[in-house]
Amino acid sequence: MSEDQLRRNVRAFQAEFRRGWPDGPVVIMPSIKANYGLALRRILTEEGAGCDTFGTGELQAALSTGVPPDLISFNGSSKTEQILVRAVAAGVRITLDSVREVELVIAAAESAGRTARVRLRVRPDFDIDARSDFFSGPVSVRTASQMYKPGIPTESLAGAARRLLAATGIELTGVMMHAGRQTTNLRVWSRIMQRFVEVIGSLRDATGGWQPSEIDIGGGFAVPRDPFGRSDRRRLSAPHAPSIAQYAQAITRTLREELTRIGISTAIRLEVEPGRSIYGNAGIHLASVTNIKRQTAPVDYTWVETDTSDSFLPDVNLERNRWTVCVAGRASDRPAMVADVVGISCNFDVIVPAANLPEVRVGDTLAFIDTGAYQDANATNFNALPRPATVLVTGDQSEIVKRAETIGDVFARDVIPRRLAGAVNDTHIGFGE
Ligand SMILES: Cc1ncc(COP(=O)(O)O)c(C=O)c1O
Repeated sequence: MSEDQLRRNVRAFQAEFRRGWPDGPVVIMPSIKANYGLALRRILTEEGAGCDTFGTGELQAALSTGVPPDLISFNGSSKTEQILVRAVAAGVRITLDSVREVELVIAAAESAGRTARVRLRVRPDFDIDARSDFFSGPVSVRTASQMYKPGIPTESLAGAARRLLAATGIELTGVMMHAGRQTTNLRVWSRIMQRFVEVIGSLRDATGGWQPSEIDIGGGFAVPRDPFGRSDRRRLSAPHAPSIAQYAQAITRTLREELTRIGISTAIRLEVEPGRSIYGNAGIHLASVTNIKRQTAPVDYTWVETDTSDSFLPDVNLERNRWTVCVAGRASDRPAMVADVVGISCNFDVIVPAANLPEVRVGDTLAFIDTGAYQDANATNFNALPRPATVLVTGDQSEIVKRAETIGDVFARDVIPRRLAGAVNDTHIGFGE
């Protein structure tokens, strides 16, 4: 992970959204789910960034790395009363995901003896027929976003808001939504913002004039060489995603116009929760070439075998990503072969299908670029593979910020009941290594 690129990314979000949102404060709250490395989070905290957290572990990570509670959103489905009490006591803002959480947070504020600052996560109906990049088939943004579970159904929103406004110990600060990385089309993004503002207007009307003091637009912005959803278009070079400046301009312009049109102040806090676009192009995954296997019949095929796995770059399967791969130290060499770059597991384990590569040799290092978001967070131990380390680089300095797993780590949670222990010899898997 590159410290310098991470800093550049968060500073670009801060500068561009502030440029487009001059009347109120802007808080960039990177989504820690994209990469919960604690050293990386410390860098973002130094940059003054807030944090989007989902669930208890992420909340603890944000608090323990010094994110000011006022800059934390505590999101998540099915929050328990216990964790809500902790969140209220910590002073973080709580983003409610369902009607069920309304009474729970009122009770939590009472038992914590402190005002709870809450926001409503909403589910606008994005009336958008354009295709969602979430699916390989023709599924519209509208359908995809309605299938996505988070948020309070619109029909229950006004009732939830009125109940919270009438409750003691609750400050209803704003509204939040997250459409996700469905599209890179900025016209669609503008429509998403219009529909969000319509929900805010309806809430104002249904509550006799309540207005948010903060609005949170979630994340979903592409990384510049956008690998997302491209594996089914195998040979396409990376499309150019909008820049952070273009996203910020399209989004803030629409928000300002639409809020002003319905008479809601824009002198309010704007919050943005980028995940992939903060961490993605700050990360490179490295692997060694272990073998080059060729066959000519019945099908001509070449595999470049490596010591990594799609288990460590899982968005090739989860999000149909097509990674850009190059030979480290020879990135500008001309392509000389087409091969599937494959991993070490027993699955198909195709990390990059039909990659154009220079002549590759055993022992070369391959670099999969733009892999800093979601890959480590989603990595698994399939085939009992220990997950790799994370190294932080800045200038000519490098430090391990997450050590590699050992085989002992992979089996560390296993318990063999005494009655089955028989001739167990745990020296093979190095418990306690
Ligand atoms: C609530 C919320 N905010 C922000 C994000 C970050 O999204 P992305 O990485 O696409 O920017 C997510 C991702 O799922 C999310 O659920």
